[in-house]
Amino acid sequence: MSLKYDKGTEKSKNWLITETQFQPEALGKVEAVFSLGNGYMGLRSTTEERYANEARGNFVAGTFNKFLGDKEVTELPNAADMTEMIFTLNGDTFQLTDGDILDFDRTLNLKDAELSRHIHWRSPSGSEYKLIFTRFVSLDNKHIIAQKVAITPLSSDLTLTLRSGINGQMTNTGTQHFKEGVLRLYDQKIMKLEAHTTESNIDFVHFSQHAFKKENINFTPKNTIFMDRRKIFTAFEPGIIKKNETVTIEKVSGVYTSRDKDWIDVDTALANFTSTSDYDTLFQAHRNAWESQVWEQYPIQIEGVDFDQLAIRFAIYHLTGMTPVHDNRMNISAKGLSGEGYKGHAFWDTEIFVLPFFTTSNPKIARQLLEYRSLSIPGAVRKAIDNNYEGAMFPWESAWLEDGEVTPVWGAADIITGEPTKIWSGFIEQHITADIAFAVWQYYQFTGDQDFMEKHGYELLFATAVFWQSRLEEKGNRYEITGVVGPDEYKEHVDNNAFTNYMAHWNLEKAIHYHDLLQEKNPELLASLSAKWDLPNNYQKWQEKAAKLYLPQPNTELVIPQDDTYLSKKIIDLAPYKEASQVGALFLDYNLDQVNDMQITKQADVMILLYLLENEFSPEVKQANWDYYEPKTLHDSSLSRATHSILASDLGDKDLAYSMFEKASRIDLGPNMKSSDAGIHAASIGGIWQVVVNGFGGVRMLDGKLYLHPHLPEKWTALQFPIYWKGSRLEIKVTQESTTITNTSDNAVALALNGTEISILANTTFTTN
Ligand code: BGC
Repeated sequence: MSLKYDKGTEKSKNWLITETQFQPEALGKVEAVFSLGNGYMGLRSTTEERYANEARGNFVAGTFNKFLGDKEVTELPNAADMTEMIFTLNGDTFQLTDGDILDFDRTLNLKDAELSRHIHWRSPSGSEYKLIFTRFVSLDNKHIIAQKVAITPLSSDLTLTLRSGINGQMTNTGTQHFKEGVLRLYDQKIMKLEAHTTESNIDFVHFSQHAFKKENINFTPKNTIFMDRRKIFTAFEPGIIKKNETVTIEKVSGVYTSRDKDWIDVDTALANFTSTSDYDTLFQAHRNAWESQVWEQYPIQIEGVDFDQLAIRFAIYHLTGMTPVHDNRMNISAKGLSGEGYKGHAFWDTEIFVLPFFTTSNPKIARQLLEYRSLSIPGAVRKAIDNNYEGAMFPWESAWLEDGEVTPVWGAADIITGEPTKIWSGFIEQHITADIAFAVWQYYQFTGDQDFMEKHGYELLFATAVFWQSRLEEKGNRYEITGVVGPDEYKEHVDNNAFTNYMAHWNLEKAIHYHDLLQEKNPELLASLSAKWDLPNNYQKWQEKAAKLYLPQPNTELVIPQDDTYLSKKIIDLAPYKEASQVGALFLDYNLDQVNDMQITKQADVMILLYLLENEFSPEVKQANWDYYEPKTLHDSSLSRATHSILASDLGDKDLAYSMFEKASRIDLGPNMKSSDAGIHAASIGGIWQVVVNGFGGVRMLDGKLYLHPHLPEKWTALQFPIYWKGSRLEIKVTQESTTITNTSDNAVALALNGTEISILANTTFTTN
């Protein structure tokens, strides 16, 4: 894989990711890793010209649609493609698979979120051309995609034709989610394609317009409009371009949907689109938005290893592109907006892996993401009722607020039976309900946002606890949770998964605590929630059942059983699978039923419990469980390594923590050509930020207090990052010798630094030496 990270120098140092060679077999990876997004939409970085194994994709957040048929679940539809441009240069169609590539690079600039390609191409008939392509998805005007192409003929004059427009023939791997709508050309200039999702009835309208310049002089080429099924195209004939002259073509496109909060109608969308300007002006506003909304907000600096600095920027780049900050009815998909993978659905990935970044660095966005869960309580109640439980049973996979569960039922091939494997997560992976409650509490502790708690937070804590009390099963003199999938999805129908039981217990205890608190501080609010959630009755059950809920304890070797039977299962040599370049290599030899009977763990399970509820377990227990489980863990989920790295930091093993971080930060950026075809890994990207700030930076919130205990990797000389604590922005700098904390707010902030309680006065800097 020919990705390079060191092409940026001076101001662009550690900002550029460059593909130095055209590799048709790596198209999918680069399309996802280089994808552009602004939280409203995500655009895979397929090229203007088309290739056989590309996967073009443009996804608008929250526009879910369900195709006909029982086997289908709602998914984020692949909207019309507005980026296609087919160039014919002196009769040769521009295609990198034809002719000769004399020079090539494709670069994603993380700083201003612009993608560029520089190509020196010799066509099959022997003429040479320089082509420069640039594009961005505007962070300033969320509807806009802008492209610019500059072509210079180097060996002879050029007769150019361009076919460019909007192509609504896109599908989600074969599934067409749109009914055809109106096609139209306005004023001989603006192409329009309307489309409507087949089931959810969302109106989409797409516009594209072009501008031509020869040696910086605008001109209008001869053009002919073509319409086809779900397609509107224009053929442009700009005449002759002299040798060494440059023709520049700008294509500005926009997508608007009836899901937009400010949607009025197609005419208003057209008026908005018409008022947009040229590439350079749009780009200036876009670049300024990245600077002020992103890089000034999260100026994380790592000194010592250039790649690591780039990797954390890459994480923040995608965290920005994937998050629909404009609308609290939407959430983050497990692949962001960068591919069809996981159908655009939200998982626990948001609350446990991504949300800590926002909670700590941009609480307003964290709040909105949690509001999504609050607004989707109706769907969670439906799921509980469908399963004969009470309260809010959050879906394992979530899309529309009211839908409830949307996890597909059938997955990958079973090599033994030859049939698809059943996905049980939607039925019995239930820990997500407690994970959401945990994220609510974590947000509250970091921010002190009382308004959020009163409008959403208390209800989320109570509604989830109502679910758990109805879920617990009385067995003898204790309560148990049987028949679940824990975080380790290689173990199905297990009893008393430690993570699930502890988190359910935590959820019940927190509900009891806040119930008591509201009784004293806000009885009116408690009364209104009581009526809705039958709290008097539930409160009693929470107390009785939490006290008797079975929490698997460390055994004589201090190992916490992952579930009731895990420790008695067969152990096999995992070395070949651990070293395999592809995840899931195990399933080429075994099926899931067989793996169920072995001590093989897909991802952090007991380990994530030790991280989230860290002060309930001693360092000895953490070490013993690391030593027991890590060798049995395949890290087949991208969520796994970040958690392991943080725990290794806690255990004081800096080298191990760093080597886990190195692997985590290469899940998308590393050499594996196939790792990201279906999209980037949102949770892993959130996890990378957690490794840096919570692991190496040592930031923790325990029992409502802020802790800082940095463990800087040996190779780093400095780490700098901001965090918010109860509305105060703290700027933290850690070096091998000292820690410096600047409190930029007007309030004093108390925290425990390396075990010592300190208070940093308003607008002052504290340093350890
Ligand atoms: C993991 C889950 C995760 C999901 C989406 C699965 O492979 O096992 O923990 O939520 O992917 O990222």
